[in-house]
Order: sequence, then C-alpha cells, then structure tokens
Amino acid sequence: MIRNKNRYISLFSLAGFLCGTFFQTSLVAATLDGNEVPMHLVKSETCKECHKKIYKQWKGSMHAQSTALKDPIHGAFYQQVVGDPTKEGVKHKASGKYPVCLQCHSPNAALDKTTKLDASPAYSEGVNCVACHTLKNYKGINGADGKMKLGAKAWDHSDALQGPNGFLHEQGAKADKVRFIAEDEGDLNPHLGRDNRGKPYMSEEDMKEIDLPLEGNASMKTSQACLGCHDKRNNPKGVSLCQTGDEYLEGKSRETCQSCHMPMSDGIADHSMGGGHNLAMLRRAVRFEVQTEKQGDQLAVNVELENLQPHNVPTGAPFRNIYVKVIALSKDGEVLWKNFQEHPAKEDPKAFFVYTMTDEAGHPAPPPKASAVGKNTRLKPYETRVLGYQVPAKGVDSVRAELYYNLLWPGLVKKFKMLPEDLKAPKLIAWSESKL
Ligand code: HEC
Ligand code: HEC
Ligand code: HEC
Ligand code: HEC
Ligand code: HEC
Repeated sequence: MIRNKNRYISLFSLAGFLCGTFFQTSLVAATLDGNEVPMHLVKSETCKECHKKIYKQWKGSMHAQSTALKDPIHGAFYQQVVGDPTKEGVKHKASGKYPVCLQCHSPNAALDKTTKLDASPAYSEGVNCVACHTLKNYKGINGADGKMKLGAKAWDHSDALQGPNGFLHEQGAKADKVRFIAEDEGDLNPHLGRDNRGKPYMSEEDMKEIDLPLEGNASMKTSQACLGCHDKRNNPKGVSLCQTGDEYLEGKSRETCQSCHMPMSDGIADHSMGGGHNLAMLRRAVRFEVQTEKQGDQLAVNVELENLQPHNVPTGAPFRNIYVKVIALSKDGEVLWKNFQEHPAKEDPKAFFVYTMTDEAGHPAPPPKASAVGKNTRLKPYETRVLGYQVPAKGVDSVRAELYYNLLWPGLVKKFKMLPEDLKAPKLIAWSESKL
C-alpha cells in the first residue's frame, strides 16, 4: 500500500536520530522507516513533511527559538545562572539542581534529564511539535508536596500524539479521506496506526513503516494546553517572575489563550503565537487615545490607555515594559513641550508601566536575587488608565502621544550590549494625535 517507502529512509536515518541521546523515559511510540523512536524525540521536520504551513508558522515563533542555543536574551541569562547549553551535567548555580529552565524552554531535554541541548534536534528545537502534542492531562503547577511542578512536570505525558479534534473517529467515506493523504500515491495517514483502544487501522507491516499514533484530546482547545509553562514562575526566594496565569484568573475571562494566540487562518489554527517579539500582536494590545482641552493659557491633555487583554500588558517576563511619550508641536513641527527628555523612569514615572524587584533593603535587584516586588504598574486585565498633563498652550498646533514597548529594562539594555539592536530598541506600538 505504501509505494514510496524510501522517502522515509532518507529523512530519518537512524544515526541522525539517535546520535548522542539516551533515554530515561523509554516510551517507544513512533515508528519511522521501521525504526522505533520515543515520541518525545521525534523532531519537527518529521511533521513538516505533511504539515508544511504549521511548520513554517512554528519555525518563526519564539517556541522554536526557546533554548539558549537560539534565543539571545534567554541565552544571556541561561549562561549566567546555569552555564553552557552544550555541556552535559550542568547545574542551576543557585540551587545546585537540574536547571528548572529546561522544564519549559527545552521540555524534551527535561524528560531525559539531559543538559546537552545540541545532542538531539528534539532538544535544540525547544518547544517543538511533540512538546505540546504529547501533553495529555494537565495537573496544575501546585504539587501535592507544596513544591511547584513547572513546565513538562505540570502534565501527564502520552506516547501518542494529542490532537484537538481526534478526527480519527470519522466514519465511512470521510474516514477514507483522512486515511489516504494522496489517494493516487496511496500514502497512508501516519496517525491511523491504532485507535484509542489500541485496535489497529493498518496492517502490522504498514505500521512498521510509519506510525505516529494520535488520539483526540479536547483539552488542547483550552488554556490548559498553555498554562503549565505560562502560569507562574517564582525565583528561589518566592518572588513571582512571570505570572500570566494569575493575571488571567484576575481578569475572569472566558476567552481561551488560543482564541487570540492561535486564531483560525486558512482553515487551520495558526501556530505563529506572537507576543513581545511580534509587532503586529503588540499593536493590538491597547486602545490608545489622546484628548486636549484649552483651559486659559494651558492645555489639559489626557492620554487614555485601555488594556483589551485578559492578562496584564505587558505580560510575561519581568523586564517587559511599556512607556508613553507625549509631545506638543507647533505648526512647523517644532517640539514645544515633551513629558520627558531621556527616559520617563525618573522624569515622568506615571508614564512608565513596569514591574520591578528589590532586595531586603529595598534597592533594585535582578530577578534571580530579588526578595520582594518593588512596584507593578503594568496595565491590569481590561484596565483603563488616564494620564493627565498640563501643557503651556502658546503656539501649540497639535499634541501627539506615542506608546512604546520594550523587551528589556533600560538597565539590561546597557548591561547586554552584545544583544542585536532590534531586541534593545523601543518599538512604537500605538499613537494618537489631537489637532487644535
Ligand atoms: C505551544 C504548543 C504547540 C506547538 C509548539 C505546536 N502545536 Fe499544534 N496545536 C496546539 C494546540 C493548542 C492546538 C489546538 C488549537 C485549537 O484547536 O484551538 C494545535 C493544533 C494543531 C493541529 C490541528 C490544526 C487545525 O486547526 O486543524 C495540527 C495539525 C498541529 N497542531 C500540528 C502541529 C505541528 C506539525 C507542530 C510543529 C511544527 C505543532 N503543531 C506545534 C499546540 C501546539
Ligand atoms: C505523512 C503525513 C503526515 C505526517 C508526517 C504527520 N501528519 Fe499530522 N496529519 C496528517 C493528516 C493527513 C492529518 C489529517 C488531516 C488534517 O486534519 O489536516 C493530520 C492531522 C494532525 C493533527 C490534527 C488532529 C486533530 O485532532 O484534529 C495533529 C495535531 C497532527 N496531525 C500532528 C502531527 C505531528 C505533531 C506530526 C509530527 C510528529 C505529524 N502530525 C506528522 C498527516 C501527517
Ligand atoms: C512546554 C512549555 C510551553 C507550552 C506548553 C506553551 N508555551 Fe508558549 N512559550 C514557552 C517558552 C519557553 C517561551 C519563550 C521562548 C523564549 O522567548 O525564549 C514561550 C513563548 C510564547 C509566546 C511569545 C512570547 C514572546 O516573547 O514573544 C507566546 C505568545 C506564547 N508562548 C503563547 C503560548 C500559548 C498560547 C500556548 C498554548 C497554546 C503556549 N504558549 C504553550 C513555553 C511554552
Ligand atoms: C484577547 C486576546 C488575548 C488573549 C485571550 C490572551 N492573550 Fe496573550 N497576548 C495578547 C496580546 C495582544 C499580547 C501582546 C501584548 C503583551 O505582550 O502584553 C499578548 C502577549 C502574550 C505573551 C507575551 C509575553 C512576552 O513576554 O512577550 C504571552 C506569553 C501570552 N500573551 C500568553 C497568553 C496566555 C497563556 C493566555 C491564556 C491564559 C493569553 N495570552 C490570552 C492577547 C491575548
Ligand atoms: C514555568 C516555565 C518556565 C521556567 C521554569 C523558566 N522559564 Fe523562562 N520563560 C518562560 C516563558 C513562557 C517565557 C516567554 C513568555 C513570557 O515572557 O512569559 C520565558 C521567557 C524567558 C526570558 C525572556 C526571553 C526573551 O526572548 O525575551 C528569559 C531571559 C528567561 N525566560 C530565562 C529563564 C531562565 C534563565 C530560567 C531558569 C532559571 C527560566 N527562564 C525558567 C517560561 C519559563
């Protein structure tokens, strides 16, 4: 039935696949070109063969750049608090334990308890296809022993792929459509090896060729598919670093993460999953308007920001921040007034939406060492905030307000000089102008 058997021989040579890897979780689930491979070690290129568009979307996402080998910002921190991502047996310096980072940033490596991330594509690919599509049952991040169970540890894993619909239950002629990918070539659907009860759809011989068993799992359509990695993470002193999940609970939203981060496009759930690195996504975050009113020789200027998201804006990593710039212009475009010269942090703190951390003495402290939250002036879920200014009216023709997004605190931009310019530069994500 499978005519082009050799296709898979070229794609999945055993040497390339198993090179340098060792299995502690020896689930033998996938079969490729007759070779059995644990499902969590199946690389994303295997899926690309048929899911071309999704592969391309994923490849451009931060999920595909999530390891210290590929993400310069994560890489800089990882080198500092852990060490070399190509070495085996590296420990998290502060705790002396296996680096917790990998539970989320390279979950397949965490399942194998390895720290040598270049040993297999399934590790260096970070949050890859199988990292999400084997998450079976969400247990939450609060373990029974009071310790947090983060990333890979927050779920039971399956040796079968998990799909949102479980199309395998199609009956009759419809079933034939998903059974054969290209009818004239007679390629079999690799997910149809067995059904949920283990009953074979294919002959034993065909299953030996290519078998990527898949079962339906409705929780893939819910926020549970994201929260184990995106809920919350504390530093060793119990200070929250990321807390998108807590924010989301506070927002009391019924919208799922997928409804915004995986919208339907061209008939499939989009896997680009934009966030702080994606300008198009950032531009949708906030309703932003400036209004002016003349009061004698002054202008009353109001800048209104409405967070349209069920989580904070900015959300995520603690160093994400946004700020508002306001300028008053003459007819010729000369700047007559502005709300800050260099940076609003000191000159106009209300225009700076930021999360900071401190040590015991109340001095600013970096994420790994902080013992308390300094301030959290990020926009809360659905919050509307108004910034008011008094501006001398003389000669003013228009007032313009601009909203800028930054991946990093100003201090980190200075510290990490080696980072590429586009990761350090403020990004304009909204603007509004009022003509007088
Ligand atoms: C960060 C987690 C994550 C990653 C990484 C991921 N997926 Fe998905 N995928 C999902 C979720 C969640 C859904 C369900 C979306 C829904 O139905 O709302 C899904 C849906 C799908 C679907 C069904 C699409 C549809 O609309 O019918 C396919 C096919 C798929 N993924 C393949 C892949 C492939 C191939 C890769 C790797 C290139 C991949 N996924 C990577 C989480 C992920
Ligand atoms: C040889 C072709 C082929 C390969 C390789 C392949 N798939 Fe699929 N996959 C299909 C077909 C065909 C369908 C069903 C039609 C559809 O929904 O697009 C499907 C559907 C899916 C779905 C949707 C299931 C649902 O419940 O709606 C997911 C998820 C999925 N594949 C994940 C993967 C992942 C992950 C890999 C790699 C480990 C992979 N596939 C490799 C052909 C393939
Ligand atoms: C196995 C852990 C894991 C799962 C499951 C997961 N993510 Fe992620 N996600 C990450 C990691 C790690 C990053 C950060 C990558 C980086 O910047 O180094 C990330 C990045 C992102 C970003 C981009 C952030 C940026 O800086 O641009 C978005 C948006 C996102 N994830 C949304 C989702 C959604 C929605 C889901 C559920 C459908 C999901 N993720 C499931 C681990 C995960
Ligand atoms: C109503 C649409 C919407 C929903 C629902 C939504 N988000 Fe977002 N999300 C956004 C927008 C817009 C941004 C960009 C602004 C920002 O970074 O705060 C974003 C940013 C992010 C980022 C980027 C953080 C970073 O460090 O770059 C992550 C991670 C994220 N969301 C995760 C989630 C998770 C997890 C859920 C579900 C619990 C969710 N989002 C629900 C719209 C949404
Ligand atoms: C609970 C899961 C989880 C753990 C554990 C985790 N991270 Fe992350 N990390 C994320 C997610 C999700 C993002 C991206 C979205 C966001 O900002 O929330 C991220 C983003 C980052 C970023 C920003 C990357 C960028 O491109 O801007 C850095 C730096 C980072 N993590 C470092 C670390 C380090 C170092 C460790 C280990 C000490 C670690 N993380 C542990 C989930 C985790």
